[in-house]
Amino acid sequence: MGDVIQKRIGVLGSGKGSNFRAIFNSIRSGEIPAEAVLVVSDVKEAGILELAEKFGVEHKYIPPGNYRARLSEEAEQGYINAFKDAGADWIVLAGFMRVLKSKFLEAFPEKIVNIHPSLLPSFPGLRAWEQALDYRVKYTGCTVHLVDRGVDTGTILGQEPVPVLDEDNATSLHQRIQESEWRLYPKVLSALMNDQIKIIGRNAIWNKD
Ligand code: GRF
Repeated sequence: MGDVIQKRIGVLGSGKGSNFRAIFNSIRSGEIPAEAVLVVSDVKEAGILELAEKFGVEHKYIPPGNYRARLSEEAEQGYINAFKDAGADWIVLAGFMRVLKSKFLEAFPEKIVNIHPSLLPSFPGLRAWEQALDYRVKYTGCTVHLVDRGVDTGTILGQEPVPVLDEDNATSLHQRIQESEWRLYPKVLSALMNDQIKIIGRNAIWNKD
């Protein structure tokens, strides 16, 4: 077996960091051949920063600037510099609540991944589990995808379905989707970091060899 080159992952998150926890555990167990080199948050008190501290991963809060849904130009450059300085070659979005603009995308071309709490292309954007409940779908789920210029529109790398139960409310459905995220995200990152996914445009081909 040839040596797998250890990838260097930078993580971006705004929230409690449960996906980061799942990913970090899979790194620690050796399932994902990578190192988490830096966690950055746009929210000073975010749980993801506390987790990084606990796990001994370098972490920092970088103020996002004055926009609500994106980074200011100055902040964006700060985020790029932080990840470049840390030597990150992949950027993993784990609950980052801002849209990344082209400067950031061009700094890490085809190397930014995100998880979204629906089966895309259904229900992009915010509170996807509530959109699914409102629409009365029987299945929703989660999707790991590459990040492109659109909102939740990049090449789909993996998906896991979650049934919507008659008795579900927003809290219970969101909880089950999150549990599926904790399975799917490490699985996709493992395949990606092991160079087992070949991406040609919209087509992500999994090679199990
Ligand atoms: C996840 O539900 C993910 O789908 C969405 O943001 C949430 C992050 O949760 N993009 P956590 O911070 O990983 O717990």
